[in-house]
Amino acid sequence: MKKQILSLFVIALCLGNGSVEAQSKSIDGSILSPTPPMGWMTWNYFADNINEKDIREMADAMVSSGMLAAGYDHMFIDDGWQGGRDNKNNMIPDPVKFPSGIKALADYVHSKGLKIGIYSDAAPLTCAGYTASLNFEEQDAKTFASWGIDYLKYDYCGAPDDMEIAKTRYKKMADALRKSGRDIAFGICEWGDRKPWLWAGQVGGQLWRTTADVRDKWKNTKAVKTRGELHSVGAGILDIVDYSHDYASYAGPGHWNDLDMLVVGLYGKEGPSGALGGVGCTDTEYQSQMSLWSIMNSPLAATNDVRNMNVETKRILLNKEVIAINQDALGKQAVCKIKNDTWNVFVRPLANGDFAIAILNRSEATQNAKINFAELGLNASFEIRDLWEHKVVGKGKKWNGKVKSHETKMFRLKKI
Ligand code: GLA
Repeated sequence: MKKQILSLFVIALCLGNGSVEAQSKSIDGSILSPTPPMGWMTWNYFADNINEKDIREMADAMVSSGMLAAGYDHMFIDDGWQGGRDNKNNMIPDPVKFPSGIKALADYVHSKGLKIGIYSDAAPLTCAGYTASLNFEEQDAKTFASWGIDYLKYDYCGAPDDMEIAKTRYKKMADALRKSGRDIAFGICEWGDRKPWLWAGQVGGQLWRTTADVRDKWKNTKAVKTRGELHSVGAGILDIVDYSHDYASYAGPGHWNDLDMLVVGLYGKEGPSGALGGVGCTDTEYQSQMSLWSIMNSPLAATNDVRNMNVETKRILLNKEVIAINQDALGKQAVCKIKNDTWNVFVRPLANGDFAIAILNRSEATQNAKINFAELGLNASFEIRDLWEHKVVGKGKKWNGKVKSHETKMFRLKKI
């Protein structure tokens, strides 16, 4: 009897979630953002100095460079596009930066086979001080839909600290988007400060940031003791990993932990990612970001100059075997099974029964790894495919090998 009551309770809970999930369905009933969104985001490269010419050029480059073919299928316009409101309170783009308007730009981006994202904030002004959407949610959602927008990043600068207010403000915009008549995925950007993994999916978000803004650096040299501290010292790649990997159980198709933009290929470029010690990373570290963001199911928003990518940046961003892990249909975020001063080892199951593992050497020297798969909960023999070497590198119940300082090895394990 007790068991029956318990299962009724579990069913009720699931149904509860079901109705919440319904909010996040596309118009045709399928899941919105069934895999983590991918694309290119304007912020780290241009900050708010964006305009339609540069965005068109970037869209062209996403096609010619192979980014679109590899899966980066969104052009995400970040802060700085806004030009205020017209006499009917409709949001308008900056007429100097976007003389043809956002609709024409969206049409162009769509004609290239890309989707288009835009940016606003749950307060009167955005983080960079532009017009935002508080109290205009329905009107702005309708405007975005009429322009053909497919994605909205919704920031939280200028809004109160309180979690309940955040939930209310995000839900208001999520509901407005659902009512807009167009499928618009919703990215919640309150930096993990109010534990969004607990509520962001329920209020209608498809993804939520887990930390303060990513900077183009490996990690803070002084140990960071709280998530909040990352706002003032800046979040390096390793800081974000450390403050994001505990939330694996909250992610899944249509609701993702967003570890923030990729800094791959920026090499210390001046601008937002260069602030707070963002002096640039090595290609080994960029490879680690790509590996870790992929195994942890983060959205992949590249921010480098896709018009001019060097061989290494292309090798990292366009690695289709690694991207396939990120985009795997099962949508199970990797769990960190080993964590100590030297190693982080992540494991996730994949839709076809394989497993992906990532082995990160956090230390400052090359190390010999000795990984018994049983320690990771994988009690079988496997064929081991190295996703950066693009070849099978062994068979059996363990992998031993060298991992360079700050390098991440990534393997696909197939049962034999
Ligand atoms: C915040 C966000 C960034 C970016 C800027 C734009 O800092 O976290 O990702 O969108 O605002 O002003």
